[in-house]
Amino acid sequence: MKTLIFDSATEDAIKICADIIKRGGLVGMPTETVYGLAANALDSEAVAGIFKAKGRPQDNPLIVHIANIDELYELAAEVPETALKLAEAFWPGPLTMILPKSDIVPREVTAGLDTVAVRMPSHSAARRLIELSGVPVAAPSANSSGLPSPTTAQHVIRDMNGKIDAILNGGDCDVGVESTVISLACKTPRILRPGGISPEDLSEVIGKVDIDPAVLSELKKDEVAASPGMKYKHYSPKAKVYIVHGNFENYKKYVESAKGENKFALCFDGEEKLLNIPALTYGHAGSSREQAHRLFNALRELDDLGADTVYARSPAMSGMGLAVYNRLLRAAAFDIIEV
Ligand code: TXA
Ligand code: MG
Repeated sequence: MKTLIFDSATEDAIKICADIIKRGGLVGMPTETVYGLAANALDSEAVAGIFKAKGRPQDNPLIVHIANIDELYELAAEVPETALKLAEAFWPGPLTMILPKSDIVPREVTAGLDTVAVRMPSHSAARRLIELSGVPVAAPSANSSGLPSPTTAQHVIRDMNGKIDAILNGGDCDVGVESTVISLACKTPRILRPGGISPEDLSEVIGKVDIDPAVLSELKKDEVAASPGMKYKHYSPKAKVYIVHGNFENYKKYVESAKGENKFALCFDGEEKLLNIPALTYGHAGSSREQAHRLFNALRELDDLGADTVYARSPAMSGMGLAVYNRLLRAAAFDIIEV
C-alpha cells in the first residue's frame, strides 16, 4: 500500500485524512501525548485493520477519541458525576476514562470487555480530524506492537510506512508519554496506566484514587490484568535495558565497571560529561515533564546507535515521574539493579 505522507497538518491535509477515515482507512494522527493510529471506531472492519497494521494482540482494547463531550454520552452506557468532573478539569487533554460501554461500540474496539476507554485529545489537528471525520476515532499508539510509542511523524513513518493509508505530521508530541488511563467502572477510581495527568492532579479533583498494582509490579502468571495492555512487553528497544537504582556516584561506579562494546548509559542531562562510557540523556534529573517528553525518542535513538545493553538512571516517581518510571520498567522488563 502507498502511504500518503502530509508534512504539515494543513486544513486541506486534515480534510483528506478525514475522508480516509470516513471510508474505513487508517491514518497516523498526531496527538499531544504520542501519535495514534486512527480509524472509525464504529466500523469493525476498519478497527480490525488497526490490529493488523500494528501486529497488536486481539485481546488488547483500543481508546476511542472524541472531539465533543456529547459523544461521551453515545459511547458510554452511564456517565457518572466523577467523569464529568474529570472531563471539566482535564479535557481536552491526556486523560482516558474507562466507563461501561454502550451498544454502539463494536466488541473489536473493547476486545470483548463491557467497558470502553474514551479520551478527548487537545492537539488541534487531532481535534479537527475527529470533527471532520464525523465519527469517534479509535486510536492506539501508532508504533509496531512492542516498540516505543512514536513521538514524531518520523517514528510513525518508520513503523507504518506502506501499512496504512496516510500519516499526518503535526510536529513533535508535547507530552511524550501516553495518556493516564483511569477506570471509573470500579468503586474507587483506579489508575490503570499513569500518564500525562498525575495521580496528585486527579486526587485534587475527585479525592481518593487507587493505583493498580500492575503499574509498578509485574503481573504474576495467570493473573488477570485490569488493563490488558499492562501484561504485554512494551516500549522495548532492541537493547536489553536495566534500571540502575541508586545515587549518581554509585551509578557511575557501576556502569563504568560494566562498560564494554555497545553498552550505553541513559542518564540525566549534564551527567554524560562525568561518565566514562557512551551516554545518551533524557532530560534534567529534576524535571519529570522533560523526561516524559524525551524518553521514547531516546529509546529509539539507542537502537539506531546499535546499543545492546542500556543502563538507565532511575527517575523520581512522583507527579509525571510515575509515568516515566512505569514506561522504563516495561522497557527493562522489570530488571532493576540496586547500587
Ligand atoms: O495517549 C494515548 O492514550 C495514546 C494516544 C494515541 O491517544 N493512545 C494509546 O493507546 O496509548 P494504546 O492502545 O497504546 O493504549 C491503550 C491502553 C492499553 O493499555 C489498553 O489495554 C487500555 O488502554 N485500555 C483500552 N480500553 C480499555 C478498557 N476498556 N479497559 C481497560 N483498559 C483499556
Ligand atoms: Mg501503545
